[in-house]
Amino acid sequence: MKEKENQSNKWVKGFSKLSKDEKIDWVTTRYFHSPDSAKKLLEDYWNKDSQLQLLHDEFIENAVSNFYLPLGVAPNFIINQQAYTIPMATEESSVLAAAGKSAKFWASRGGFSTKIIGTEKIGHVHFMFAGEAHKISDFIENIKPVLHSDTDSITTNMRARGGGITTIELCDKTDQLANYFQLHVSFETIDSMGANFINSCLEQFGDTIKREAIRYAPFSDEEKNIEIVMCILSNHVPRCLVRAEVSCPVEELNEDKELSPQAFCEKFIRAIDIANADIHRAVTHNKGVMNGVDAVVIATGNDFRAVEAGAHAFASSTGNYKSLTHATIENGVFRYWIDIPLALGTVGGITKLHPMVQWSLDLLGNPTAKQLMEVVAVAGLAQNFAAIRSLITSGIQKGHMKMHLMNILNQFKASKTEKQQLIDHFKSHTVSFSAVENELLKIRS
Ligand code: MEV
Repeated sequence: MKEKENQSNKWVKGFSKLSKDEKIDWVTTRYFHSPDSAKKLLEDYWNKDSQLQLLHDEFIENAVSNFYLPLGVAPNFIINQQAYTIPMATEESSVLAAAGKSAKFWASRGGFSTKIIGTEKIGHVHFMFAGEAHKISDFIENIKPVLHSDTDSITTNMRARGGGITTIELCDKTDQLANYFQLHVSFETIDSMGANFINSCLEQFGDTIKREAIRYAPFSDEEKNIEIVMCILSNHVPRCLVRAEVSCPVEELNEDKELSPQAFCEKFIRAIDIANADIHRAVTHNKGVMNGVDAVVIATGNDFRAVEAGAHAFASSTGNYKSLTHATIENGVFRYWIDIPLALGTVGGITKLHPMVQWSLDLLGNPTAKQLMEVVAVAGLAQNFAAIRSLITSGIQKGHMKMHLMNILNQFKASKTEKQQLIDHFKSHTVSFSAVENELLKIRS
């Protein structure tokens, strides 16, 4: 009975209409043993600048505080002969260190070069048409000018910037689902990621199709009744693609004492072959790539969920999930690259609103969307390089645990002096949770 009462107490109607204080009271008193300390924590993470806090509160519904991630910078990247310091927002201890190491390594070997392969964004009107395929095809051809004119007001600014709707095609998907067709639309969105622009155009297309179908004489009554199921952009953007690469003579890869440069390169390529042969390894391999990609995508205010979904779909384009990175040795030259789809924006969204995003974009010299794609792809490649290099030589844990040492020390609330003593100690000892605990106990006793 009491349990039931407790549960109903946790149900609320019209939560979004409560004030911020009321929301905080509601959630802290019902879900926390100590509502006061739960509330205090939320307050501690509020921004003291109320204007800034208001901005954050208005990004989302039901904001009760802020959730911080560290923002780091990775210097020494040479990309297309230009020096970059890359902003990265991440909680993972080793990511910045790995980025810095790869940057430095490749800076002395010519740096990274990049190429934009395409910038095409895609969206669909998914609809059901119970009729003859040739009729729907004629209909869409017929209404193409109307589709364009109906979206004129939405596309004006984008067209002025050199973008807009590039192609409109009908796809017959009835072999996969009875009566299923789609309007496959491609867009050029210049420096914006373009999600709102694309979705607005698509929703207008949905309305136009419905309206025009009713008036289209060749359709029977049943055919006139087209069902628009949904209108939405696709996060699968295989033609919004960038390549980042590095190369150097094999003998310049002489960093490891145990392996000759040739053996190092061959083992490196074998590690990629393994990712291509085995999905378990491929997912982890690509996760390492995304450590770099996401960190820059987040720091620059872009949609990391869209980027993640698109990257993994791309990694599966052959029907098997594979490595996003590739490497070869040809004529004594080691070449290593990534092809990755990245739908990014440097205008629109929160880019001009979030002060830290603006800071990150300033740090990158206020790049165009294409330049940002290049930087992000480089961060992904650099991260993968650092991971594979460690994995095939010293192993990953040595570096990881060293970086993780601080987290363990913080869990034990180590003082500044204790931290220094233990950092010194673990320069020559293997870090593990229990080893840190033991050493700390020794110091404290
Ligand atoms: C850890 O966040 C990422 C790695 O597992 C990537 C990899 O295994 O390639 C180290």
